[in-house]
This record gives sequence, C-alpha cells and structure tokens, in this order.
Amino acid sequence: MINLSLDKKLSDLEKIFGIETAMDSIGYTIMRENLDSKYIPKELSSFPVEGPVLNYTLDGNSIIVELKRGFLSISAMDNHTIYLKWSLNSFDPDKNNENRFDSVLYDDKLLTVKIGEVKLVLSDNAIDYYFKDEIVRRELFPSIGLRNIIISNVREESILSGTGERALPLNLRGCKINIWNHDANGSYGPGDDPLYINIPILMDVHHDNGYMIFYNNSAKGEMDICSEFKNTVKIEFMGGELNYYLTFGTMKDILSRMSDFIGKPLLPPKWALGYHQSRYSYNSQKELEDLYDKFQELGLPISAIHLDIDYMDGYRIFTVNTKNFPNLRDIGERMSKNGTRLVAILDPGVKWDKDFKIYREGIEGRYFIKDPEGNVIKGPVWPGNSAFPDFSNDEVRKWWASKYIFFKENGITGVWHDMNEPAVFVFWGDNSLPLSAVQSEGYHYLVHNKYGLEMAVAGYDGLLGVTDGERPFILSRSGWAGIQKYAFVWTGDTESTWKELKQTIPTILNLGLSGIPFSGVDIGGFSGNPSEELFIRWFELSSFLPFFRNHSARDTRRREPWAFSENTLKIIKKYLNLRYTLIPYFFSVAYESHSKGFPFIRPVCMEYPDICSDDVFLIGNSMFVMPVLRRGLKKVRGTLPPGRWYYFWDDTICEGNIDINVNIEDIPLFVKEGSIIPMDRDGLEFHIFPGKLDGFTYYDDDSKLQPKFIKIEFKMEEKNEGFIVTWNHSGELMDEQSELKFIAHKEGKEIQMISKISDRMLYVT
Ligand code: NOJ
Repeated sequence: MINLSLDKKLSDLEKIFGIETAMDSIGYTIMRENLDSKYIPKELSSFPVEGPVLNYTLDGNSIIVELKRGFLSISAMDNHTIYLKWSLNSFDPDKNNENRFDSVLYDDKLLTVKIGEVKLVLSDNAIDYYFKDEIVRRELFPSIGLRNIIISNVREESILSGTGERALPLNLRGCKINIWNHDANGSYGPGDDPLYINIPILMDVHHDNGYMIFYNNSAKGEMDICSEFKNTVKIEFMGGELNYYLTFGTMKDILSRMSDFIGKPLLPPKWALGYHQSRYSYNSQKELEDLYDKFQELGLPISAIHLDIDYMDGYRIFTVNTKNFPNLRDIGERMSKNGTRLVAILDPGVKWDKDFKIYREGIEGRYFIKDPEGNVIKGPVWPGNSAFPDFSNDEVRKWWASKYIFFKENGITGVWHDMNEPAVFVFWGDNSLPLSAVQSEGYHYLVHNKYGLEMAVAGYDGLLGVTDGERPFILSRSGWAGIQKYAFVWTGDTESTWKELKQTIPTILNLGLSGIPFSGVDIGGFSGNPSEELFIRWFELSSFLPFFRNHSARDTRRREPWAFSENTLKIIKKYLNLRYTLIPYFFSVAYESHSKGFPFIRPVCMEYPDICSDDVFLIGNSMFVMPVLRRGLKKVRGTLPPGRWYYFWDDTICEGNIDINVNIEDIPLFVKEGSIIPMDRDGLEFHIFPGKLDGFTYYDDDSKLQPKFIKIEFKMEEKNEGFIVTWNHSGELMDEQSELKFIAHKEGKEIQMISKISDRMLYVT
C-alpha cells in the first residue's frame, strides 16, 4: 500500500509526467530494491593490513613492501609525488620506469623512503609522511575488502578542501560527505549532500607545506572530515582498489602536479567564456528567434542560447521536434555567423521504444546497462521508460560519439550533458541505477561516479569530428576526476535564495581545488523566483565566474535581462559589457588554468596562505571580488589581501580593512598593484597597474584545435622613479610590427602609450 507521503509524490509525478511515468517509477523503484537486496551482500567484508614490515624489494620504480598481513607498493611519480597501492596479495613491480627514489632504508622494522623533500616512515601500524622535515600526515594501515578504509591524522591548523561539488564551506573540516553522484531532484540548498560531482580528492592547505591526495577509486564511498574525531579523516569505499596519489608543496605546486595525473583542464573555445542565455525551456523556433532578436535590438552581447529538453521530439535524444523547430539549422547557423552559438541539452536515457532508431541500435549492439540476470535495465526519466548506455565500454562510447553529427546537422555548436549521474525517477531510495547493475567495467556501485565523465569522453570525441576544427564545448552536470579535460560544469538545481547565492562561492572554489576550473551557477538559482534584488546580485557575481549562464526551471518567472525593469536591464547591460571587456584577461586566466591546472577563481589562501574566506575570491592572481551577498546591504566591509589594490571603478588605492558604500549596481572589484590586465575596450588594451609583477601571460587564439595564437609574457619592475614593463612573445596572431596599446593607471588618470611588440619593453613614469 502507498503511504501518505508516497501518495503525494505519486500525484506530483503524475502532474509533471502523467500517470504512466509515475507508475513506471513505482515499478522501477521496487525492481531496483529487489535486485540490490538479492545481489548486494548485507555485510561488506574488510581485512585489516597488519605490520610490521617484514621485507621489501626495490624493483624499477616501485618498492614492494611485505607486511605481516598485506602488501604495499610505493612508486615515485616525480620528486614530490608518490603513488601507493595496497593489497592482501603481492604486486607486480613497476619495472618500466627507472628508480626515482633517493634512498630506502630498512632498520629495526622501520622502513624509511625518501624522494626529494618527501619522506615516508612505515612503522608497525602506520605511515608517517614528512615534507621538508615536518610531519604532515599520519595514516594508519588500511582495511581492505568490500570496505576499503583509510584513517589518517591531519594537522590542527590545515584547511581541508576539494572533494568535488559541495554545498558546504570551503574548509570542509567537521563535515561528513558522501561520494556518490546524485541528482538533487530539482532543488537544493546549503548543506545538501551529495550533489552531482563527487571526487575523492582532498587538499590539505597549510602554508607552503600542504598536500593533496587523490584516491583513484570511483566506488561508492564516504568521507568523514574531522567530524567524528578531531583531526581525523576517515575515507571508506565500497570495494574497488586502494590506490592513491599524494603530492606535497604550495597550493599552486600541488594543483599543478596533481593535474599531471588527473588531467589538465581543457582550453575552452573563447565564446564559451561569454554570456549564455537559457531557460527550461525555449519551446519553439519563434521563441528562440524572438529571444535572439531582442538581444540584438537592445545591444546586449550574447555568446550562446541553450535549448532545454523541449526541442526534442518526445524527449527522444538526437531528435528535433520539427513541428516547433522547423528550421533549427538555419537559425543556428545564422546566429553562429554573428557570434551566438546554439547549445542543446542531451540526456543519457534512451526512450524505450522499439520504433526509435537509437533504442534499436542500442539493443542490437548490446550497448545498454543490464541487471545481473542479463536483462536491460528499464528506468523512467523524461521520455518515460528508458535504457542507459554503458559508457564504461569503448564500443558504446564510439557508437555514442558517432551520433554527435546530429548537432552539426541542426546548427548546434555545443552540447549540454544533463541527468548523467545517471538520474532515474524513483519513489524512494537512491535516484539512480541499481548498485548491482552490470557495466563493462564492473558493478554499477564501482563505476557509477564515472558515468558523467565517461559520457563526456564520448561526447568530446563525437564533437571533435564535427566542429570544423574548433575546440568542442560540453557542459556537464555530473563528473569525476578528469571531467575538466572534456567539459565545463555547473552546479545544477540550486534554490533561488540569498543563502544559496552565498553558497555559490565556496562551491565553485572547492570545485577549483578539485581540479575543475570551469564552472558556474544558474543565475538567480534554478528552482524558484528570485526577487529583483537577488537576481541583480546573482548576475553581478556570476559575471566574474568562468561559466556565465542565466537558467531557470520550468514555470518560474522569466529572467531574461529585460524581464524585471528598465533599471535592472541597465545594470545587467553594465555587467554584460564588463564581462566582454574583460574577456582578454579571462581568456588568459583560462589559459593558465589549462596549462597549469590552477582554478580560474581562487580562494585568497592560494595567494596569501593565511587568509581563508568563503565570501570573496580572486580571479587569476590579479583581480579580487567582494560580492554583495545579503539583502538590502548598503556597505561592504572586509579585508583586502595584503598589498595595495586599485578600486576598479575609480582607481582609488585601497589597503587593509575597507568599508565601501554599495548601490544596487555596484560590486566591489579590485586590481592588485603590479598587474597587467588586458581588456577589450576600444580594441585590445593592456592596462598597467604599476608595481612589481613577477609574471603575467597574455594569451589569445582563434579557438581552433590547432590554434593560431599569441602569447606575451610580461614582467614589471621598479626603475628610477617609474616602472619598466618587459615582455617576450611567441605565436603567429601578431607579427613583429603589431602595435600594443598600453594604458597606465596613475593617480586616478589613464595614460595611453603605444609600443611595437618588437620593442619588448616600455618605461612607465
Ligand atoms: C535538470 C537540470 O539540472 C536542469 O538544468 C534542466 O533544466 C532540467 N533537468 C530539464 O532538462
């Protein structure tokens, strides 16, 4: 019998999807529960590894340690990074690589291993990790099995961050989190956990001797970050292998080194950093054309319009509802020629319909995920009952990739991967596939967290062939370590509240510290109706985030820039124009993220290790934003990072504690003394904010996979009474005769100077 709350759920589902999908959802929920209770053991076994060290062998680049019970393999990846693997059985050594260890010493049952400034000491029951002669972590020998458990001690003062996407503070100390990609069911707010992207990466931020750990295990898991016991982190995975990378150093060093292992972020096509307009949904070609025309009429810059699920024919993927969109290709191509791209949503669920080609191909090719009894799993999503491609299989990924030609044929440039946790409509319990579902790489509980990532791998491959040589754009809701190589992400179905606006900053900062620089939030929040003031503040904040998109749920009030009032439109125009003015700087920061693995927006502690705040952020190294995060606020009070800062709006020099009056159209924005900020105002201008600058790289290209580019590496130092700016350049987008326009900011004035790129220096008095 259905109880009261389920009854309510049934009527809600029925209202949205009709009675058939609501009933399918009940059937699916029961089926999933039955399968898991039959195939997932109730008790998950685990065997503790026990010391002391009995013996070790050094072979190639691995030390294989034999313990009283269990084995450990240690490899040196570079002179600050090690890779550990545990097992109850012995390992094959890593003979392919040369020994990179500085020393290995076995004395009195203690094994001491040194690589550069990193030292590991294995005793009876623990490993102590030292960096620069200071103990930074103690880790008990793990338990291994269907429960893999690692318990470690962390330093009292460390900030613990990362772990993917969290509606939690930047410092996760005191939090218990789940590692299981999860659809938040249409709305979430601060504190909800887990969300769509869960990554077993933890960063220990501690001056210049922090570290980062990446557990290379995609299984279902959880992490207790000093919530149960002080300074104790416990991570647990349901099976999988117990392998992890640890790298030590400053935040920049560890982010950069870790990105060698989890993957360097993509370099986006430049248009992706512009403004994106979306809504669930723009329902017809007429609506789409009117929308685009309105942007033109009002002189509002726009880089992309997103089509949500209603462009499809009955939510069948890779189809267009040609009744409502008779000429999508024409409008897509027309817009694209004028600089606005179409981006269309794509879900993984394939409608269970034997007359649907994609479904038939999937069945014939055996591409869908099955239950342990060999039946294709049938679960309801938007199109009703659906089957789910097994993206962990190479052949399936190839098949899926071959379908992306559909987008080009319909004038669509970018693809928005949604519902890819994967989400399934359920009545109770987890809203995904059964834990016991079988994929080519293993049971679903082992690979579920990689579903969105593997879909992105396929999608990226698919787009490569159809973008006329331009770098692909994919937006993905779900992901795992490595998603940054293929896609931007956004924070999903956020609620439209002031609290959630504030939450956006630590969420995006933590994504950045998990290796994912390109992310953003639905402006105004997804699931409700923000007040005009909240919407403006959200817009202002988002204009500084790497992914800048206005999106909202079905049945919410309109949120296009003109939807509120003349005054709001004016403010929005100001921030849209500012965004495009700053694109040369933003693209240069994106290039730094791409080449070094750094976040795009950064917590202050990345540049100034002692300062941690959830409410402010840096863009690259040089810009600092203090968004307005509370209703009715007339003053923003806070502390600037060390040094002198130019108030962006009037060049006032500020330092230390500040107290700034803000009207509704203001967001406090600062530029660090000793910066060069490229802007596109009246053409390309290099704005000089005099002071010492160790290095800034300006980068621009034509967004191609094999790009024509220009890279100018600047430095600035004090000389006599002024400053000398020097540079080197490479790339073919400019030639030796190209002129560089500089604007020096001095005493509230802007002084213009022109140099040839071949001059390689400029003196600013
Ligand atoms: C869920 C996504 O998070 C949301 O952005 C989208 O509008 C809906 N699915 C409908 O496709």
